[in-house]
Amino acid sequence: MSTLAVYPGSFDPLTNGHVDIILRGARLFDRIIVAILVNAEKSPLFSMAERVEIARAVFTHLPNVEVDTFEGLLVDYVERRSAQVIVRGLRAVSDFEFEFQMALMNRRLNGKIETVFMMPAEQYSYISSRLIKEVFSLGGRVHGLVPDMVEERLRAKVGKP
Ligand code: PNS
Repeated sequence: MSTLAVYPGSFDPLTNGHVDIILRGARLFDRIIVAILVNAEKSPLFSMAERVEIARAVFTHLPNVEVDTFEGLLVDYVERRSAQVIVRGLRAVSDFEFEFQMALMNRRLNGKIETVFMMPAEQYSYISSRLIKEVFSLGGRVHGLVPDMVEERLRAKVGKP
């Protein structure tokens, strides 16, 4: 049986921390779906179409990485796609509490789905999409922390560095 994993998130924007986790997942599982949450509550910097376009462009060379969007409960999406695993990245102890809650809630909602935590390379352990947006909008450099395409899009959107 082949193992299909789902890596869910907002990816607003995709960072090199996300890329690192996806590359690890693509080595570990037969296929990994990068599932971007359609979330009307947040006001994202990047539109859904842009986030999908960026992720597809970054992983175009990897045939076992798929980019998709989802709405509603994550476990329902995972079941619908006949996947067995949810992948989440753990950067620091501070991530653990929320991730632990989500993993156990998801297990309660659907006991057949397993959550697997993966650690990004240490040089990405402090990066978050929120910090990238904040630093860039205040004129700081984010080179090397996000894919080049994200940096270009940030420049086009926010202007500056
Ligand atoms: O990138 P993020 O914001 O950390 O991703 C959070 C995400 C998308 C994994 C989480 O918000 C989610 O799964 N949302 C879908 C709704 C859902 O299933 N909520 C219950 C989770 S226990």
